[in-house]
Amino acid sequence: MVNRVVGYKNSGIKFYSLNLLSNIAMIETPLSQIKKLLSNEIPSELICCLPDKWEKIGDVLTVKLNESLRKYQEKIGERYAEILHCKTVLNDVGGISGTYRKPKVEILYGSKNTETIHKENGIRYKLDLQKIMFSSGNMDERKRMANISNKNETVVDLFAGIGYFTIPMAVYSKPKKIFSCEINPIAYEYLCKNIVLNHVTSVVKPLLGDNRSMAPKNIADRVIMGYIDDTYRFLPTAIDCLKNGTGIIHYHDVFPNELIPEKSLKFVQEISKKYDTNAKLLKYNYIKSYAPGVSHVVFDIKIGER
Ligand SMILES: C[S@@+](CC[C@H](N)C(=O)[O-])C[C@H]1O[C@@H](n2cnc3c(N)ncnc32)[C@H](O)[C@@H]1O
Repeated sequence: MVNRVVGYKNSGIKFYSLNLLSNIAMIETPLSQIKKLLSNEIPSELICCLPDKWEKIGDVLTVKLNESLRKYQEKIGERYAEILHCKTVLNDVGGISGTYRKPKVEILYGSKNTETIHKENGIRYKLDLQKIMFSSGNMDERKRMANISNKNETVVDLFAGIGYFTIPMAVYSKPKKIFSCEINPIAYEYLCKNIVLNHVTSVVKPLLGDNRSMAPKNIADRVIMGYIDDTYRFLPTAIDCLKNGTGIIHYHDVFPNELIPEKSLKFVQEISKKYDTNAKLLKYNYIKSYAPGVSHVVFDIKIGER
């Protein structure tokens, strides 16, 4: 093929050849590779029903399989595992539910051992994807929490899970102490493992149980409320954690999109009144879409200082 120059002489614009461009056009996406392999193995009319998104956590993949593909699920799982380099492929059959945020999944293909180590932002999260959730969509917030604290602060994480926010904060902000509450014994077990895995045993104190009965009181400069099921029910606990009733709360919840700025302001006014304090909205952050027209957001709320 003849190389043709793209760009203008003396313009400072880099010169590209069409050879390079044609190579780029030939690059296959993982999905197109999967489709190509499966085109000989499943009926052609079903190719369009193959999952076009997935979540890869460590070396475990989760997809949502269309019911029409049931008969071919193992072959399909095998091809996704092969192209996306995973030991197991899970089918998300029921989302995440309950207080423990347990995922409902079944194995389509691969190893029954679904424990893995997921690496993100220099942090290693150990977890079992059949037992514990991991939300890729919260990555930016995990990064934000990593650097938001400092060595002078004491932090309480009321819904620690396996250490989604606790571990990056401990590693990068190095606060004096993070008290990390978790009610699910399995998530707690992984929280303890992740504290060791990321070398933050001197920073993080894990606490097993309901935060409403065991979160430490009158101690925190900052409280993380990473939970989105009637989070307001836990506000009295969060306020009790604050040192002299003063500090910052990272309050997560879901709201209809059109209500977000107004709702956040009204919400902090309600806190001021109800808890006889001064609540000020520092900022709100969009985290991810939760449902059509509904978003998961976090409000950074300063409590107590007038
Ligand atoms: C899984 S996390 C939410 C997701 C997380 N924020 C993220 O970034 O992916 C919520 C955790 O709170 C825990 N939890 C729920 N209610 C609790 C309570 N009353 N006390 C302590 N932990 C609780 C659940 O077991 C769960 O592990």
